[in-house]
Amino acid sequence: MPSPSPTWRALALFLPVSLVAIAAAIWMGASRVDYQGPHVDDDRADIPVLNPGVFATVCATCHGASGEGKREMMSPAIASLPRWYVEEQLKQFRLGHRGVDPGDVDGQKMRATLLSLSESAVAEAVESLLALPPAKPEHTLEGGDLENGDILYETYCMGCHRYNGHGELAFRSAPLAGLQDWYLAAQMRKFREGVRGGHPGDADGLKMRDAARLPVDEGEILDILSFVAGLEERYPVTKGSVTGE
Ligand code: HEC
Ligand code: HEC
Repeated sequence: MPSPSPTWRALALFLPVSLVAIAAAIWMGASRVDYQGPHVDDDRADIPVLNPGVFATVCATCHGASGEGKREMMSPAIASLPRWYVEEQLKQFRLGHRGVDPGDVDGQKMRATLLSLSESAVAEAVESLLALPPAKPEHTLEGGDLENGDILYETYCMGCHRYNGHGELAFRSAPLAGLQDWYLAAQMRKFREGVRGGHPGDADGLKMRDAARLPVDEGEILDILSFVAGLEERYPVTKGSVTGE
């Protein structure tokens, strides 16, 4: 028998070596999978990613998890506000028509938050906000004359904010029922001083600024807002009750 050619000899040597190498690679691969435990990566992929969302992580820090507002932050109860009003106010903050006056620290906080977020993040937060049920607002004003407040409200405010204080899309007037009385008082001061509603591009704010100057003094405003605070008892604020849902 002729002796095998050098090629066959090389192959005969190489084949077992490479078979051992392949077997070793398979064994190591298999043992690596065993070592990590069964399908670790696949299991992780099955766990839903818990994304708490922009509202919960950003807005709620000031406005509360239920959008109920916080006195210590001077933040309004925003949970019952209708879409048109929320979007309008966010626009006014973003454009710098609200929340820019050097004396308006609370407005500035709100504006700075908006500017730190992308428009799509804000849009996501708005959807979460609109899905919340109305939260019961906290009232703290004392000493108002409710009867006088009733007369003054009918004279100066009702035409735009309606008999129930739920606001009116046609006049673009904000809902008042459902908001804290101390917040409304702070806004009245801002309108009267031109801190809010003073920008020529803020048509709705300008209307309200003129209206806020109609009652003569702070005492009358206290009477009006004490009366307004009782409106939500008589005309409960629900998601469908405020105009322009
Ligand atoms: C750093 C605190 C802070 C954060 C965070 C914050 N806000 Fe505000 N927000 C305020 C304050 C304070 C006001 C009241 C400003 C004023 O006095 O004019 C306000 C006002 C508003 C208003 C106007 C309400 C009204 O009745 O006119 C809306 C709407 C609003 N915020 C929505 C949001 C949304 C949505 C987010 C999250 C994207 C958010 N806010 C995050 C503090 C905050
Ligand atoms: C001519 C119509 C008109 C009259 C009258 C009027 N308002 Fe307004 N009011 C508005 C409009 C419009 C807005 C929304 C302003 C904006 O978009 O910034 C508003 C907003 C407000 C706000 C801010 C609410 C918030 O969530 O920040 C308060 C408080 C308020 N009005 C109270 C009153 C009171 C109290 C009276 C009566 C003394 C009154 N308004 C009379 C049109 C009016």
